[in-house]
Amino acid sequence: MPVYLDHAATTPVLPEAIEAYTRALATVGNPSSIHTAGQTAKRLLEDAREQIAATLGCQGIELVLTSGGTEAINLAIKGLFWVRRSVGATRILVPEGEHHATVDTVEWLAAYEDATIEWLPLDEQGFLRIDALEAALAADPAGIALLTFLWANNEVGTIQPAEKIVALAASAGVPVHIDAVSAYGHLPVDFASMRSRTGSKGQSGLVALSVSAHKIGGPIGAGGLVLSRDATIVPLIHGGGQQRQVRSGTQDVAAASAFAVAARSAESSRGVESVRLAALRDRLIAGVREAVPSAVLSGPDCGVLDESGTDVRLVSNVHFVFPGCEGDSLLFLLDAAGVEVSTGSACQAGIPEPSHVLRAMGRDEDDARGALRITLGRTSTDADVDAFLVALPVAHAQASRAGMATRESSLGSR
Ligand SMILES: Cc1ncc(COP(=O)(O)O)c(C=O)c1O
Repeated sequence: MPVYLDHAATTPVLPEAIEAYTRALATVGNPSSIHTAGQTAKRLLEDAREQIAATLGCQGIELVLTSGGTEAINLAIKGLFWVRRSVGATRILVPEGEHHATVDTVEWLAAYEDATIEWLPLDEQGFLRIDALEAALAADPAGIALLTFLWANNEVGTIQPAEKIVALAASAGVPVHIDAVSAYGHLPVDFASMRSRTGSKGQSGLVALSVSAHKIGGPIGAGGLVLSRDATIVPLIHGGGQQRQVRSGTQDVAAASAFAVAARSAESSRGVESVRLAALRDRLIAGVREAVPSAVLSGPDCGVLDESGTDVRLVSNVHFVFPGCEGDSLLFLLDAAGVEVSTGSACQAGIPEPSHVLRAMGRDEDDARGALRITLGRTSTDADVDAFLVALPVAHAQASRAGMATRESSLGSR
């Protein structure tokens, strides 16, 4: 069996979630139908919605179920932008280094819908530069359509001070969307209390938050947008008017049921899992540094805590740059040795471009090409970490030789 260390791309579906999925799939009924079969399906669906909502600190009615994180992010950003544009607000504030679901959505709005994007810089560890955010919020806040940001970076694991960011936007009267896809399951997500602690009200401050099921042991193709009851949004998908008219389409009871099982399980094991994964992560980081001393950790180091004593690196994330190596070569060599990792976001894999996240953190293009992301999840064990640390030095030696040969031949051809 290969060693799977790419849990940020997707993590195995829990057996109990598969069971809930197949059970619900065998139940006939459209939850919008009035007859008994329809009402049975509706009960299953609404139970699932309530259970997922409980893990997000929101009310069931505030949870719009979607086909995943990408759809939720599109709905939040486009939907909020269209509402705000109608009152003349067209600036979108967005940090650099976001997931492509955000980057491509805001770029589409700039290309086709007259949005102006203001990219906010990151520091070298991947944290949003708060001074730049404050300056952007101070300049004509009424012209800002929204602020959207990634709570925990899916490539380098940096966790943003989400409450501080939301509070600043709330005091400027700016609506905020959070991409919580990689935070969910690892960090406590409590929509209502974040709203109240940050002074968010109505359409100001935290109004929307996106999550995905397949990052926490649920199925691929399911996710959700938490949308405050007080917020208005323009829908992306029109039709039967399901889900507060915000997201039409017959609802997927089986996916919701499986998502609910995964959400409950992730929430109940989060405390214990955090401690276990942090220990694996720190052993991995120490092991890589010992095996390849030239490797450079991206994002915050182990043991870096915020003002409240919380780890500011995802417990599941390890990310290194290996100078002089191509990340793709390392990935293929490790895969051949039976260890599955990533060079960054799964959505980018296959496109041999240097990571835009590392570039935003100030790394040069060559460094950004030598990246490897190793991510942990519920099935990860000490034996997985050992297998990676055995395979790495061999793969690294081979990839370095290949990198050197490529550089020599390109120098020779000049
Ligand atoms: C931070 C982040 N946002 C959004 C997404 C997209 O979610 P989905 O795969 O459910 O569309 C991902 C998935 O890789 C992600 O890591």
